[in-house]
Amino acid sequence: MRGIRGWIGVVVLCAGMLPIVAGAKVSGEERAVLTSPPAVPPPIARKHATKLIVELEVRERVGQISDGVEYTFWTFGGTVPGSFIRVRTGDEIEFHLRNHPDNKVPHNIDLHAVTGPGGGATSSFTPPGHETVFSFKALNPGLYVYHCATAPVGMHIANGMYGLILVEPEGGFPAVDREYYVMQGDFYTRGGNGDPGLQPFSMEKALREDADYVVFNGSVGSLTEGGALQARVGERVRLYVGNGGPNLVSSFHVIGEIFDTVYVEAGDAENHNVQTTLVPAGGAAIVEFVVDVPGTFILVDHSIFRAFNKGALGMMKVSGPEDKVVYSGKQDQRIYLPEGGAVQKMPGRGANAPKAESAAERVAMGKVVYETNCVACHQADGAGIPGAFPPVAKSDFLEGDIDRTIDVVLNGLEGPLTVNGVSYNNVMPSLGLSDEQVANVLSYVMNSWGNPGGDVTPEQVAKRRKK
Ligand code: CU
Repeated sequence: MRGIRGWIGVVVLCAGMLPIVAGAKVSGEERAVLTSPPAVPPPIARKHATKLIVELEVRERVGQISDGVEYTFWTFGGTVPGSFIRVRTGDEIEFHLRNHPDNKVPHNIDLHAVTGPGGGATSSFTPPGHETVFSFKALNPGLYVYHCATAPVGMHIANGMYGLILVEPEGGFPAVDREYYVMQGDFYTRGGNGDPGLQPFSMEKALREDADYVVFNGSVGSLTEGGALQARVGERVRLYVGNGGPNLVSSFHVIGEIFDTVYVEAGDAENHNVQTTLVPAGGAAIVEFVVDVPGTFILVDHSIFRAFNKGALGMMKVSGPEDKVVYSGKQDQRIYLPEGGAVQKMPGRGANAPKAESAAERVAMGKVVYETNCVACHQADGAGIPGAFPPVAKSDFLEGDIDRTIDVVLNGLEGPLTVNGVSYNNVMPSLGLSDEQVANVLSYVMNSWGNPGGDVTPEQVAKRRKK
């Protein structure tokens, strides 16, 4: 990148003051303040470039990637993503990379902010128990990814070896009320998503780019509930968003917000009024927005199965007074009658369905009902979708009162529910099935996937419907 700010390398007229000739000697020496995500070091107050000492330690450590699932992360500074580094254009950085003696393998660092072979990687190969030092000058302002580049590079990155380094332009960025550090990464485990225990890295899945987890800040739920980002109504928020990959591009979006400003690809180009910004693997973006109303705003990769099924979901909790003009909340809910003013009784969807002649035929017909109405949520194998829709295979809910199950299919269900010891909180609609269809589909479910068997009749369903 050598945009407008990059040309500061020649001569800069700083708001009408004396010209500053680039390449002027830096003055002083400082030690960089590094922070763990989602914190960002304070803006750089000094008005001159300096010699800046950065010390970063690699730690290989077991941590939680999801509830009950552990992973051996390789980290810069003990966290995924690694420590946030903040420097200023013109700074001469003396970089110390330390590889803790307890670690098992050598590492190095490639900073995209470096102009030079390997971005520093060729000078920083560091076996466990060693420290290497190299220096570089921050020539170009911007937000840059850094990562390990030791072979096999993909594996080192997949294990969490990436982070961000911000090179502030001379004069800095405009002041904002809050700054946060959010970085996406994709993970590949031997077991599937949610399989418990310590999960080793799967090279096979990484090669296929078939991620089990796609997360912000190193684990599922790192930015939800207690870890949620915070802001107050009226504040301007700046997010430094990175994507470590190793494979996937992020469609970064905050549900219920519009980015007032995006520094596209974290370069000089500013875009405004953006809903979703692409963050390439090995790239970054800076997004800014003012929070106008209170509530919980959800950060996602809008490749949406990643958000709701693989972990790429965070939260920003905004507190403060409502503004009912900007957002009213639900104002009314009423019956919608497209055919006119009178309440109409619509015929059930299965009013003309044929009658099953035997229990076996009922199960066969029920399979068709299931595949038409139930399969999207409860899945073809009855396993449901973890965290969203409960299983109907080997479900302890079905072992209970059959009338309760009939009621759910007839009337739908809303709110918390526990199945096989796992809680769910979702909405199942009333499907408008006939008595015959309800009997058929329940008979199918009771006789499938290791469920206990049994026969539900249309008469049983009719009785429940009367209630
Ligand atoms: Cu490494």
